[in-house]
Amino acid sequence: MQKYIIEPIKELNGEIEVDGAKNGILPIMAATLLSTEPCKIHRVPSLKDVSVMVEIIRHIGAKVDRDSSNMTVNVPEIKANEAPYEYVSQMRSSFDVMGPLLARTGLARVPLPGGCAIGERPIDLHLKGFKALGATVEFGHGFVEARADKLIGTSIYLDFPSVGATKNIMMAATLAEGVTLIENAAKEPEIVDLAIFLNKMGAKISGSGTQTIRITGVKELKGCEHSTLPDRIEAGTFLIMGAMHKSNLLVKNVVPSHLKPVIAKLIECGIEIIEEDEGLRVKSSGKINPVDITTLPYPGFPTDLQAPFMSLLCLAEGNSTIVETVFENRFSHVSELNRMGAKIKIDGHSARITGVEKLQGADVKATDLRAGAALVLAALVAEDATTIHEIHHIDRGYNDLETKLKKLGIHISRI
Ligand code: EPZ
Repeated sequence: MQKYIIEPIKELNGEIEVDGAKNGILPIMAATLLSTEPCKIHRVPSLKDVSVMVEIIRHIGAKVDRDSSNMTVNVPEIKANEAPYEYVSQMRSSFDVMGPLLARTGLARVPLPGGCAIGERPIDLHLKGFKALGATVEFGHGFVEARADKLIGTSIYLDFPSVGATKNIMMAATLAEGVTLIENAAKEPEIVDLAIFLNKMGAKISGSGTQTIRITGVKELKGCEHSTLPDRIEAGTFLIMGAMHKSNLLVKNVVPSHLKPVIAKLIECGIEIIEEDEGLRVKSSGKINPVDITTLPYPGFPTDLQAPFMSLLCLAEGNSTIVETVFENRFSHVSELNRMGAKIKIDGHSARITGVEKLQGADVKATDLRAGAALVLAALVAEDATTIHEIHHIDRGYNDLETKLKKLGIHISRI
């Protein structure tokens, strides 16, 4: 069990670089299963989740070569139609291989992903989509199995714009017969980037980024080359980090339009955000206005930045409210922040944050990826040193965080 010891820092000046997106690269790696030809992917972040996905697609039959942030995946033959439990139990996105496997071979078997710290996370919308495309779906021995002699294009309305279901159905529909419409689809930038990747492979997808995605099935897909989009959640985390200090920080390799709701809330807090050629500059005097936030599917405020933003609001001059509407159990960081002297009360899906003068160093625990990031941000503004336990959660989604923070003069050590 590794832990971080983090010393507070008075001012934050300099620059920090954002990597390729975790939530962008994982479905792209699954999509490589759709073709017999090699795919070259650049800006691949060195994250634990990426290594898990490598093991899953290797098990299925992929040949994966990596050098620094480049990866080549080649799947001339599918050797196994299932993802192994030992990996799926570590990472929900393993379920992204379901659509590609079903489309390419007519059979996909994946262990039921089960819930995680932030919620039940059912897969009913994914399965509803596969059934609509003509697949039969069965459950047994902890697995879900989808079978189809051939997939037939159709219209699918999603009860909720689920990112996971949109990705899986879109990938399955690329090799289906005829046209598929996904209505009330997720509009996240990672969905758009996946559609761009699939179209480079020869798919016919239009409307990604809107609530209606149209996929005209093709006979086969070829190999392609692609660079992963920048990680907007990592970028948002660093912008919030800058906002919590007297700072002049340049966050490099960012797509500003992907962070509109976050930038708007930071400006409402009284923070200066400046668009520059190399990225976004955050300038703060350290004074923070209270704001209210409601998390929503994109382009609403991202649930993945709810916890980091809560750390910022702990120091606001007044009361703020955060309402979490996407996941039913995403406040596990609250009790840890309160251990550091924050004043946060939960009432169902909303948290009321009463700003305090300062936070204290303490022993706290990361309960999931973004909750862990929120604790790192809180530790940097605390009065004295903080120890964060169970940092393996953070490793899942932040590439080489220590090195990046040390370059800014931050004292962080991994024990
Ligand atoms: C993706 O998860 C991201 N993960 C999550 O980021 C992110 O929080 C989430 O989208 C929302 O933006 C990856 O991309 C790997 P959903 P996903 O399907 O696909 C319910 C992080 O920190 N739902 O849009 O699982 C579900 O329970 C992670 O990087 C159903 O009810 O999100 C949830 O309440 C955490 N039935 C809501 O929809 C379904 O079949 C959103 O889920 C599917 C989802």
